[in-house]
Amino acid sequence: MNRVYFAKKLLEISEVKNKTRKSTIKKVKEKLKERINKFRRYRFYVNGRVLDVGTGSGIDLLALFSINPEIEAVGVDISKKALKFARDILPKDRTHLVQADVIYLPFIKETFDAVNISYMLHHHPPKLLRRIIGNLTAILRQNGVMLISEPSVKSEADALRQEIYTLKYDLKNYLEIRRKVSSTDTQFHLYSLVSIFDCNTMYPSLLKQILIENDLKIEHFEIITEKFDRKEAKKLIATIKTQIKRSDIPNYEKAYLLDKSNALYEKLKLIDPAGDRSMVFKVKKKARN
Ligand SMILES: C[S@@+](CC[C@H](N)C(=O)[O-])C[C@H]1O[C@@H](n2cnc3c(N)ncnc32)[C@H](O)[C@@H]1O
Repeated sequence: MNRVYFAKKLLEISEVKNKTRKSTIKKVKEKLKERINKFRRYRFYVNGRVLDVGTGSGIDLLALFSINPEIEAVGVDISKKALKFARDILPKDRTHLVQADVIYLPFIKETFDAVNISYMLHHHPPKLLRRIIGNLTAILRQNGVMLISEPSVKSEADALRQEIYTLKYDLKNYLEIRRKVSSTDTQFHLYSLVSIFDCNTMYPSLLKQILIENDLKIEHFEIITEKFDRKEAKKLIATIKTQIKRSDIPNYEKAYLLDKSNALYEKLKLIDPAGDRSMVFKVKKKARN
C-alpha cells in the first residue's frame, strides 16, 4: 500500500479522535431521526446481519436498531476512539465492533445480509474505491442489499475542470515547497494541507461505474441538494475573521485576508448559493443462477 495513503490515514485517525472527543450522546441522538428517515425513505429494512463500514459514532446502526431491534450488527471503523463511542450507544448483546481498515476486512465471503456505507468512501482515491466495493460485494450474500450515502460534487464537469487545473498549479507549488521540507513529520502533514492529495471528490458517474463493474443491480439512485445555510455561512465568516485578527501574522497580511473575508459577506448578499450535495445508491447483489 502506498505510503501517502498510510500517512493520510494516520492524520485522519487523529482528526476523528478530536471530533469524537467533542461528540456527545445527546448530539448523536438529535440526528437519529434524520438517519431513521433515511433508511425508511430508501426502504433499507434489514433482517439478519448488517455491516456498517466507517461506522463512526454508530449512529446508523442505532437507527437500524430503532427500526428492527432483532438485527445483528457489525460496525467497522479504523478509529478506536470512534468505536469506543459507538460501544456506549449500541445494544451490547447484538453488536460486534471491529477496528479495521476497510481495505482489509476480516470477514469471509457472503457473511452479511446488508451493508451500509455512510460518508466513508470519499476518504479514498478511485483505485481503492474499486477495491473497497469489490471486497464489500464479496462479503455480501446473494440478494443482499447495500446502501451508500456519500457527498457528491455539484457539477461533475466543473469539478473535473477544477481538479485538472488544481493539479496543474498546486503540483507546481507542491514541488517547490517539497524541496524545502526535510522532516518526515512535516512531509506527512503536507498531505492534508496540499489539495493535490485530496480524494474527497466523489463523482456519481464514477461510483456508478464501479458498482456496475461489480455486477451490482442499481435499485435506486438519487442526488440530494441540501439547503444552503446562510446563517451558518455568516457565522463561519465571522469565526474566520476572528481567527485572522487573533493570529500573529503581519498586519498587512491580516488586512488582505480581512478584505477578502468581507467580500464574502457582499457575495453572500448578492448570490443564492446551492447547499451541499449528496448521493445515495441502493444496490442489490444478484443471485447466481
Ligand atoms: C465522516 S465519518 C462518517 C461516520 C458515520 N458513518 C456517519 O455517517 O456518521 C467517516 C468514518 O469513516 C472512518 N474511516 C475512514 N477511513 C476508514 C477506513 N479506511 N477504514 C475504516 N474506517 C474508516 C472514520 O474513522 C470515520 O469514523
